[in-house]
Amino acid sequence: DVTLQSPYVHKESTYRINVYTFNKTLLFADRIKKIDALEYLPFEGTVSLKSPQHIFCLLEDYGTDPNNIPEHPNYVYFGRWIADGQRELIRSHSVKSRHFIGNTSMDAGLSFIMTNHAKVKENDLVFDPFVGTGSLLVACSHFGAYVCGTDIDYNTIHGKGRSSRKNQKWRGPDENIRANLRQYGTQKMYVDVMVSDASKPVWRNAALFDAIITDPPYGIRESTRKTGSHKDIAKAPDGSYADSHVPVSQAYNLSDIFADLLNFSAQHLVVGGRLVYWLPVYRPEYCEEMIPHHACLQLVSNCEQTLSSHTSRRLITMEKIKEPKELDGLAGAPDPRCSPYHGHNAFREKYFSGLNKRSSKEDTRADVDGK
Ligand SMILES: C[S@@+](CC[C@H](N)C(=O)[O-])C[C@H]1O[C@@H](n2cnc3c(N)ncnc32)[C@H](O)[C@@H]1O
Repeated sequence: DVTLQSPYVHKESTYRINVYTFNKTLLFADRIKKIDALEYLPFEGTVSLKSPQHIFCLLEDYGTDPNNIPEHPNYVYFGRWIADGQRELIRSHSVKSRHFIGNTSMDAGLSFIMTNHAKVKENDLVFDPFVGTGSLLVACSHFGAYVCGTDIDYNTIHGKGRSSRKNQKWRGPDENIRANLRQYGTQKMYVDVMVSDASKPVWRNAALFDAIITDPPYGIRESTRKTGSHKDIAKAPDGSYADSHVPVSQAYNLSDIFADLLNFSAQHLVVGGRLVYWLPVYRPEYCEEMIPHHACLQLVSNCEQTLSSHTSRRLITMEKIKEPKELDGLAGAPDPRCSPYHGHNAFREKYFSGLNKRSSKEDTRADVDGK
């Protein structure tokens, strides 16, 4: 549309053109050729390399396979530069140079994507019930949110135990989530983290959080356990437990993890607040009905990250639309979609199944940040 173009191409305007390529490096002379080939466009202004009023960008996409770069680009895009993205954050917040990491630390790019899906903004209060090493809190605090979390693992919360780094046996002093935020200058946004079992939330019954962002355990690189026992624990006649009582852990099924997470979010998000989490799926069986449902939470988006030929995880974003009534979201509630999908529970077995192993080469590459 010429009327839309004219403010940027008229005689008095100054401009420059930048060429960007993906999966291929062009020689300087080839870049110039690409620019010359745009001669047919109706630019009437003057080229200014140093301080142009307008910058135009030619983007050429040569696919994603470095061993099979096509001669000509698969896609070509042309447009006017409006603003830079924030891709630099992926490098500056890389887990490779992070003070405190664990086996399942979420990579920086995905953490920031989750934070954006949750619409995290300044002065929000964000909670991660499976906080691990706090990668998601790091990303949220970058956007000015106050952050807190819980994890069932004492060593993770206290920064103790074995190190996840190759050449280090034990975690060093001050390897903890607070130190991670300090590393990025957001320590003042750190509320706190505590040891707690997500199946037995400790919060008072109120809407407290603007967002809940989390990466629950799938049982691949970390166990899915909750506190409790199958045995009857002896109670003293006054109803108290003996001092020596240590809670025993029991399996925490994936379907229960997600049902608890949705119920918790319906209770503790503010209306309009978002829940963002990863749902592992066995791809051959995937259908939309598997996505956990809650009457108070509306599905906003459902994006797939492939992990292997047979497994992937889905980034689920939900928004709280109303306060829960007593029966909302409970299994056996009036809405049958609210009952947990038990197929999630066999994810671990399916992940390690023979079928999946056949494509193990692909797995190790795609699964660097999966579990
Ligand atoms: C996938 S990891 C989270 C990783 C985290 N996003 C990070 O960047 O380090 C899942 C975490 O859930 C914790 N977890 C497992 N069962 C739990 C439970 N019942 N309650 C709370 N946390 C639990 C594990 O200890 C583990 O740290």
